[in-house]
Amino acid sequence: MKQSFPAWSLAHDFGRAFVNPRGAWNLLRRWVLLAHHAGLPYAEVMRYRRELRDDAEFQGHLKRCLVDVPYIFPETAEVYAVVRAIKPGVIVETGVASGLSSAHILRALAANGTGTLHSIDLPNVQQGSVLPDGRASGWIVPDSLRFRWKLQIGDSRKLLPDLLRTLGHVDIFLHDSDHSYENMSFEFEQAFPRLKHGGLLMSDDTHLHGAWDDFCVKHDLRPTRVGHLGVTRKPRNARTSSSARSAH
Ligand SMILES: C[S@@+](CC[C@H](N)C(=O)[O-])C[C@H]1O[C@@H](n2cnc3c(N)ncnc32)[C@H](O)[C@@H]1O
Repeated sequence: MKQSFPAWSLAHDFGRAFVNPRGAWNLLRRWVLLAHHAGLPYAEVMRYRRELRDDAEFQGHLKRCLVDVPYIFPETAEVYAVVRAIKPGVIVETGVASGLSSAHILRALAANGTGTLHSIDLPNVQQGSVLPDGRASGWIVPDSLRFRWKLQIGDSRKLLPDLLRTLGHVDIFLHDSDHSYENMSFEFEQAFPRLKHGGLLMSDDTHLHGAWDDFCVKHDLRPTRVGHLGVTRKPRNARTSSSARSAH
């Protein structure tokens, strides 16, 4: 991976802080929260944030593609950094659309040199994330990153239970498909028992309703978030799904 000298990266951060102290403070706060919620060292996640920013080839590719993507996923750098830091073997995500999150996860897995991403997407059913004409789910993912990717097209309600059963255990689960309360709760309930102890549960758009908070409270997890991205770690002593269910 092509990277600039770390001192230049730090100088860049300080320069920005000098020009926009409030923005720098918000950024600092955001990354401190991420490190805290994901249980990772702050210096490490910041190192990976800089690594991503300095990856000229990947950033150039994204910039060329983004003109055709009608939405944003503001937490892609955060997702990249936690995947780099945790070095997961198995990640499952629902909701691919153009593939911003997928591309960042796969870029991180490539840098880790290990791990597989399993994604499920039912494209073009959600306003705002419709694919450009002639494009398929995950079209922005570079060919060079696809060998660690297994993409299934279909409804997560139908595909997710079987996928999780086949995989057995998952290191990271990321929800970003249908954001209805019912579907988010369904996916969290499916993924949680398969999540390894110490594994990371993440969800975009947790601000829309109470699905994230309700799920976390029910399972004695901290309903923590960075921006709209829910990030919580499954405790090493978490109860099994059956005991958790019977306890509520
Ligand atoms: C917000 S977009 C995903 C954005 C993506 N994570 C990214 O970073 O580019 C949501 C995607 O989930 C898909 N979707 C909606 N309902 C779904 C379902 N029940 N099962 C699977 N995918 C679904 C949408 O069509 C869309 O492609």
